[in-house]
Amino acid sequence: SDPGLVARARAAKEKLGDRVFVLGHHYQRDEVIAFADVTGDSFKLAREAAARPEAEYIVFCGVHFMAESADILTHAAQQVVLPDLAAGCSMADMAGAEQVAECWDVLTDAGVAETTVPVSYMNSSADIKAFTGAHGGTICTSSNAKRALEWALEKGEKVLFLPDQHLGRNTAVRDLGLSLDDCVVYNPHKPGGGLTPEQLRAATMILWRGHCSVHGRFSLDSVNEVRARIPGVNVLVHPECKHEVVAAADQVGSTEHIIRALQDAPPGSKWAIGTELNLVRRLAHRFAAESEGGKEIVFLDRTVCFCSTMNRIDLPHLVWALESLAGGTVVNRIEVDTETQKYAQLALERMLALP
Ligand code: 13P
Ligand code: SF4
Repeated sequence: SDPGLVARARAAKEKLGDRVFVLGHHYQRDEVIAFADVTGDSFKLAREAAARPEAEYIVFCGVHFMAESADILTHAAQQVVLPDLAAGCSMADMAGAEQVAECWDVLTDAGVAETTVPVSYMNSSADIKAFTGAHGGTICTSSNAKRALEWALEKGEKVLFLPDQHLGRNTAVRDLGLSLDDCVVYNPHKPGGGLTPEQLRAATMILWRGHCSVHGRFSLDSVNEVRARIPGVNVLVHPECKHEVVAAADQVGSTEHIIRALQDAPPGSKWAIGTELNLVRRLAHRFAAESEGGKEIVFLDRTVCFCSTMNRIDLPHLVWALESLAGGTVVNRIEVDTETQKYAQLALERMLALP
C-alpha cells in the first residue's frame, strides 16, 4: 500500500480515538483489513456493531446491506458510514421489495401464505428484512441458517427463503435432511414465479431465484480438477456455492467457519477453498508459516474470483471517510428510515435470539 495513505489513515484514526469503530468483513482487501478494529463474517460483524454503543461512528468496510444492518442494530445517535456507496451486493439486488410483495400475493392465492415463514439471508436490503419481520420471519446468515430453518419449520409448514437459492437449498438438504424435490425455485421474472399452485402447495422450501456471482463461478469441474492436481486435498466451500459443488466438498461453512477449520487442521494438511479470493490469499499466506502448521491452501478455481463490490472499499476511500469524520464531516452515512427499521430490527433480533 501507499505509505502516505497508510500514515494518513493511521493519523485520522488516532485523532478519532474511541469515537470511531472500524468493522472489516473477511472479503476486504488487506490494505483495509489492516485498519479494522474487528474482522468477521456478516453475523459476527452485526453483533459487534450492536455491542459498541460508545462509538459515535461505525465505519463499515463491507457492503451496503451489512452497513444497513449495522444501522438497524445500533442506537439512533450512532452513525454508520460506508466508505464507498457503490459497494453493493449483486445477490441482495436480486430481490426487490415489490417483487417480494408480489410473491407473497402468489403464495396467498395458492393458499400457502398462512403456513409459510419467510427466512431472509442477511444479504438482502433493509426493505426485505422489514418484509420478513412483518410476516413473522427471521434473518439468517451462513453461520446460523440451519437453526433459522429449524426455527421456521417449527413455526410453520413451509419456508420462503430469500434471496439466495443455494444457501437455502444447501441448508435444507445438508443440514435438515430434506430432499431436492422438497425445494422449488420461485422466479420473480415469470408470472406466478413460474410455479403452479400445486407445486407451491407440495414444496417445503420455496427458494427465491437469487445467487452470488462470485461463488457461482465454482463448479464440479473445479472440485474434480483440484482433487486430481493435489492428492489428499480437503475441499472446503462457502454454502453460497451451487449444490453440486457443496455435495462434492468435504466441508461447508461461513467465512468464520472456514477460518476456524483451517486453524484446527493438522499441520501439513492441504486445502482448496471455495470462497472470495482476498480471504483465501490471506489465509494461504498465514497458514503457510511454520508457526501456523505449514498448511498448503489453494483457491478452488483457476480463475480469479474477487467480489468486485467488496473490493470497491480501498485505502483511498477509507482514508477519505476517516479524514472527513476527523474533520467533523460525516460522509456516506447509511440510514434506514424508522418504519423500515422497526420491522427489520424485529427480524434481526429474532436471528440474534436463535438458540
Ligand atoms: P459470510 O456470512 O460468510 O460472511 O458471507 C457473507 C457474504 O457476502 C458471502 O458472500
Ligand atoms: Fe454479495 Fe457475493 Fe459479494 Fe458476498 S461475495 S457480497 S454475496 S456478491
